[in-house]
Amino acid sequence: MRHLSVPSAQTQHWLEFCRTHQWNSKVAGITRLANGHNAIPLNDLAPFADDQVWEGNTHIELEIQPKGPTHWLEHIDEELIKAHQEEWPRSYEIQGDVLIVKIEDTIWQYGEMIADAMLTQLPGIRLVCADLGVHGEFRVRKLHPLASRDGSLETRTRVREHGSLLWVDPSAAYFSSRLSNERIETLATAKRLRERLGRGLVIADPYAGVGPSMGVLIPEPGLITGYLVGDLNPHAAELLSLNMEYFSSRRKGESDTPPEQFQPAELHCKDALEWADEGSNRNQCDLILVNLPHHSIDHLTALLPLLKSNQTSVVRGWAIVERAQIDTSEQAILQAISSAGGKVEHFTFHEVKGFSTTKIYMCFEAWINLYP
Ligand SMILES: C[S@@+](CC[C@H](N)C(=O)[O-])C[C@H]1O[C@@H](n2cnc3c(N)ncnc32)[C@H](O)[C@@H]1O
Repeated sequence: MRHLSVPSAQTQHWLEFCRTHQWNSKVAGITRLANGHNAIPLNDLAPFADDQVWEGNTHIELEIQPKGPTHWLEHIDEELIKAHQEEWPRSYEIQGDVLIVKIEDTIWQYGEMIADAMLTQLPGIRLVCADLGVHGEFRVRKLHPLASRDGSLETRTRVREHGSLLWVDPSAAYFSSRLSNERIETLATAKRLRERLGRGLVIADPYAGVGPSMGVLIPEPGLITGYLVGDLNPHAAELLSLNMEYFSSRRKGESDTPPEQFQPAELHCKDALEWADEGSNRNQCDLILVNLPHHSIDHLTALLPLLKSNQTSVVRGWAIVERAQIDTSEQAILQAISSAGGKVEHFTFHEVKGFSTTKIYMCFEAWINLYP
């Protein structure tokens, strides 16, 4: 097939040029050449090699490598695909080397075939599991293994998020990468609070799950000086402990000085509602994260005593609320703060995403001063 040979730094320019004129062939991809050039496949509409439009770039003949399948469905028999046109999974979630997919009852019998097709298409996947829905008080997914590349059915795996590696186990502890942007916002809030207070922060993350928020906060030099983290789910707490060890080991101090020991450095596997019953946990934190979206607002009263008083402190949380009751929910948050002796300096309550037809997923952030 005829190809246009261009210096590799100009590939994007020439590819766009050919696309604009509809001269590039879709049958083959770009081929890297040994001489620092790339070859763009051309179709029959493209002008001859001696045309001025090529600005002296030469044409070469290359045998084309047919493009492989680009979708797992291409590994499934076409007749079978047609017979169940609307029922094949359209999306899936990947956590590390585990792929999780919802399979309709009507095609359940093809679950293993689907999983094999996915393993063939996606070389980084080791295990494909069917998602049987969320269950239990810790909202953990029930998974059914469909096919494994190496025979192992282990669901514990590692994901990379914002440059940190995290141990996760989708069959044992909650983790979702969908709200990873919120963690970047949490980092921005923490940095603003550090600036306001002029020192590093003590953070409480009592619904930490496997610890993705701490994964963005701890690596920031000088931002965190201590923490109280935990989760009621023992499996989550175990993964959290592994992850905290990893985050802490990679921590750098400010201006290349070794980092100070965290003080406090506590990991609890217990109900967050009971944390403040222990006197040593009270009046300890500058920033508290409240991530139990169905109950965050109800839990606030029990959590606020963890915050330091007579200074600016921040409570940042997430709540699933009725769209028709946003004002009521806002009042409930403000009421909890006021009952704890808090004066609000700044408050935001905004939608993060839709949740259902009547409910939305909101984020609240209150900068407060507690005078208990
Ligand atoms: C929505 S998840 C959030 C996890 C984590 N912050 C994240 O963003 O991935 C809520 C977590 O709270 C834990 N949990 C539920 N009830 C709790 C309670 N009363 N006290 C402490 N943790 C609780 C669950 O096990 C779950 O890991």
